[in-house]
Amino acid sequence: MPETNSHNVSMITCTAPVNIAVIKYWGKRDEELILPINSSLSVTLHQDQLKTTTTVACSRNFQEDRIWLNGKEEDINQPRLQSCLREIRRLARKRRNEEDPNAEITLSHRVHICSVNNFPTAAGLASSAAGYACLVYSLSRLFGVDAELSLVARQGSGSACRSMYGGFVQWKMGERQDGKDSVAEQVAPETHWPELRVLVLVVSAERKPVGSTSGMQTSVQTSKLLKHRADSVVPARMDDMIRAVRGRDFATFAELTMKDSNQFHATCLDTFPPIFYLNDISRKVINLVHRYNRHYRETRVAYTFDAGPNAVIYLLRDHVPEFVQAVRHFFPPESNGGEFVKGLPVHSASLPDELVRDIGMEPTPKGISYIISTKNEIRVKFFNVKNARTSGWHKKRK
Ligand code: DP6
Repeated sequence: MPETNSHNVSMITCTAPVNIAVIKYWGKRDEELILPINSSLSVTLHQDQLKTTTTVACSRNFQEDRIWLNGKEEDINQPRLQSCLREIRRLARKRRNEEDPNAEITLSHRVHICSVNNFPTAAGLASSAAGYACLVYSLSRLFGVDAELSLVARQGSGSACRSMYGGFVQWKMGERQDGKDSVAEQVAPETHWPELRVLVLVVSAERKPVGSTSGMQTSVQTSKLLKHRADSVVPARMDDMIRAVRGRDFATFAELTMKDSNQFHATCLDTFPPIFYLNDISRKVINLVHRYNRHYRETRVAYTFDAGPNAVIYLLRDHVPEFVQAVRHFFPPESNGGEFVKGLPVHSASLPDELVRDIGMEPTPKGISYIISTKNEIRVKFFNVKNARTSGWHKKRK
């Protein structure tokens, strides 16, 4: 039950994680319902480092639905926000009619939504995934909806459906036109592979030049490679990836992850006009990873890139200190800057001379702004707000 205070404001607060795909979603077959042309698979990241926190409040005194993102009021009439609100209210109405005609929260009450990230939106990390997952989950708690919520989150942002679950999550593309079978499903829980670690190498704080929504639209219209990828590459790759995750086979997991990232960026280049998400630093990170693995004659580290230049690195716990030291060596940070490694602590390590020699790259000072060190995590979480009269966030107009 949501908390209700003396002003009859009911409030719920939830948090949701970011997820990073290892088999990428790129391309829709239905723009409105957000149905993908291929299935995808991701790892849910730990909320201590990367999360969205959303409070939704509902009151008969509210005149209209409103939303604030990171303290700034945004337009509530964006079609995707409206889809999520409409869908949750529809599900709530359905349930209410069936089970609970006297429920405390009236569906005609308007909601005020306040959402903040614990990481800079400008860092180009998948904030829409955590954002919509959190919004949909909070609304579902507020209105008492108990349905397959990944279906609703998907209609906010495709990748958001995967943030509804923890651990390793697949988004099955589904076949139906109404999208009812296009849902997220957990492949393995977060406890399954405790040694797996994730490093986010924040390359640039610039906003991405082409957003994923419009980027994938142009790709669907113009790239034959994308069609080939969706029809002939991803189905088998999904099976292989699920097997690698379930068997904790890091070398296979890592190879598939890198190949899939590379193919996604190849489809971006095959898009007309082409889309460039990787920059020189991203390419240097790719080289660093391959040369590092070649030195050890073993695939110890994998990279993946979304619609921006930041690298997300997957590796096992034992290899984190040395790889971080390699990043520090080849991308020397500003000596008087803030902390270079944020998040989970990383022990210091020395770099063997032969490794540095084998990698053989010229260092690029300040190429990487900072590293977020993190791991795998559980699903969306929720807790009630005890004192609903505190912040006054819902009073401030932009
Ligand atoms: C490259 O989920 O942001 O991160 O559905 O249009 O909101 P919309 O797109 P979005 O696309 C994510 C693309 C990606 C790959 C992935 O996360 O699978």
